[in-house]
Amino acid sequence: MSGVGFGKAILFGEHFVVYGLPGIAAAIELNTTCFFEKNSDRKEGIFANDLVTGELIKYGEHPEKRLAEVLSIIFSELNFKEKNFHLKLVTNMSVKGGMGSSAALAVSICKCLDKEFSLNLDNAFVNDVAYKVEKLFHSNPSGIDNTVSTYGGLIRFRKKNGGNEIEKIMLKKPVEMVLVDTGLIRDTGEAVDFVKKQKEENPKKFEGIFSGYVGIEKEALVAVKKEQWEKVGKLMNKNQLLLKEMNVSSKELDEIIDAALDAGAFGAKLTGAGLGGNAIILSPGKELQEKVAKACTKKGYNSYKILVGMLGD
Ligand code: PMV
Repeated sequence: MSGVGFGKAILFGEHFVVYGLPGIAAAIELNTTCFFEKNSDRKEGIFANDLVTGELIKYGEHPEKRLAEVLSIIFSELNFKEKNFHLKLVTNMSVKGGMGSSAALAVSICKCLDKEFSLNLDNAFVNDVAYKVEKLFHSNPSGIDNTVSTYGGLIRFRKKNGGNEIEKIMLKKPVEMVLVDTGLIRDTGEAVDFVKKQKEENPKKFEGIFSGYVGIEKEALVAVKKEQWEKVGKLMNKNQLLLKEMNVSSKELDEIIDAALDAGAFGAKLTGAGLGGNAIILSPGKELQEKVAKACTKKGYNSYKILVGMLGD
């Protein structure tokens, strides 16, 4: 048996979602899959390979390791009694940040164990467990990563006390985008804290930025639902300008975005916490998608052609 946790791209609202504003995000084809394997050739215990180092870790023996902590949270939430098995974790995502790899890791393990042991977990429960894991990676996650990773598809998300708002957006036809990796490792928690510090130091500036974003997201939601991609692209560009004002873009992200827009992309912005990580580019149609991907690859960045608006149950 296996379980899949989707990677994600945030089309609108990274950082704003941490403060309870709505965001729009999509599951992407890049994902983490967890395979359950019987422990026939191994000693007793639970083993899983670390996605970053590839190292095989015996659960319980390396408490300092992140994966061991992730497994610990999942097993305790699932009230799972230890057995002997091997979890083979396979990913085609960048684990450097910006694709939601930590959420995908947790979701893939929960969904794999759910299927293997017929635990009858629903998505809401898996989502909750993955949120608890996200808290390991940074103290104040909005919950957008684990939500998209669990449910898939295209989602409007809003963090709320007493229950987050999750609205699935259905498209008639999935839309082509390009995800471009700066290759720079950065820490989501640090980026979130950096925004918090600036916001505390300069509340007036941030009030303006936040109210600008509210208007952008409102228009974006309507345009996305109507599949008005030119409009969506312009709004993505506006969202990127706000993120730049918040100092979370980087020269690599700016270079990617310029190259993509020069190649004819409808819109481009960073996705995830920024300061490196990835850019998401709206490039409807196979031809434009190819052109944009080539322009970014030419600049020396890994580019992934993706379809947004599919995947999930
Ligand atoms: O860097 P990522 O892929 O984990 O995305 C983080 C998105 C933020 O809005 C910056 C943080 C959050 O918890 O929503």
